[in-house]
Amino acid sequence: MPDADKTPLSGKDYGIGIPVANPAFPLRGANNYDWGMKDRLARIFNPKSMHTVMLAFDHGYIMGPTSGLERIDLSILPIADLADCLMCTRGALRACVPPTVNKPVALRCSAGSTVLTELNNEVIGLEIEDAIRLNASAMAGMVAIGSQFEALTIKNLCQLVETGNRYGIPTLGVTAVGKELTRDARYLGLACRVIAENGAQFVKTYFCETDFDKVTAACPVPIIIAGGKKLPEKDALIMAYRAIDQGASGVDMGRNIFQADAPRAMLQAVRAVVHDGFTADAAMALYEDLKAKG
Ligand code: R5P
Repeated sequence: MPDADKTPLSGKDYGIGIPVANPAFPLRGANNYDWGMKDRLARIFNPKSMHTVMLAFDHGYIMGPTSGLERIDLSILPIADLADCLMCTRGALRACVPPTVNKPVALRCSAGSTVLTELNNEVIGLEIEDAIRLNASAMAGMVAIGSQFEALTIKNLCQLVETGNRYGIPTLGVTAVGKELTRDARYLGLACRVIAENGAQFVKTYFCETDFDKVTAACPVPIIIAGGKKLPEKDALIMAYRAIDQGASGVDMGRNIFQADAPRAMLQAVRAVVHDGFTADAAMALYEDLKAKG
């Protein structure tokens, strides 16, 4: 029991005349969320830059042992410390990622058809209780706008948003990767906006060469870009630079990091673009330098 405070009223500092601080939460669209939701988002998006470098290694849920992810313990754990957030399935998380890694997790929550059948026929594959048990900082669900699974996957997204809002866990809506879907600004802009309107707190999509700034402008919540298939390192850095320059709030990159010649160096180079405003040339020079130093 603390002693009763005997300080006279006149000796206390009430800060009379100083307005009570009430800072806005600087992430796009997030100012009206509750405390827990903001706290989780602030673990994913660096509060200084309000950008994020997420490391994606959830590919196995549709692709099986993807190149570079045959052994997550050997490829991902040695670089996980450099990521702001890990994106993976609950299976990989429990089996391969020690909790001592201590990184926020964007948990892949939609599940369904694999590359062997028809992609995008998905359901929500886990109960919110398991996301809470795993201390997920976000739940991710795929949405296939414009496909035969459009309504189904929007329903999945709404389910994640509904349960996530109940417990303060943000939802990441992921635009689908179906072969028949065109990745131009018209499609991506529509898909991202639909995902945001259905309540996702952030959206993952692909960069497009033309008018990507219109995709980000018309999306009221942060957009992060997936890396897609492996590119030469310089091209991947150019893509990251252009995406950030045109309004993306970060990357959720997988193959262009864990399939790079020097994954740690690549992750640091991507961080330099996303958080420190490096140009692609400067980031490439950093990559070469770090790679040479081993
Ligand atoms: C795809 O199945 C996953 O959602 C990946 O997380 C996403 O595509 C990002 O990985 P990558 O940069 O390799 O495309």
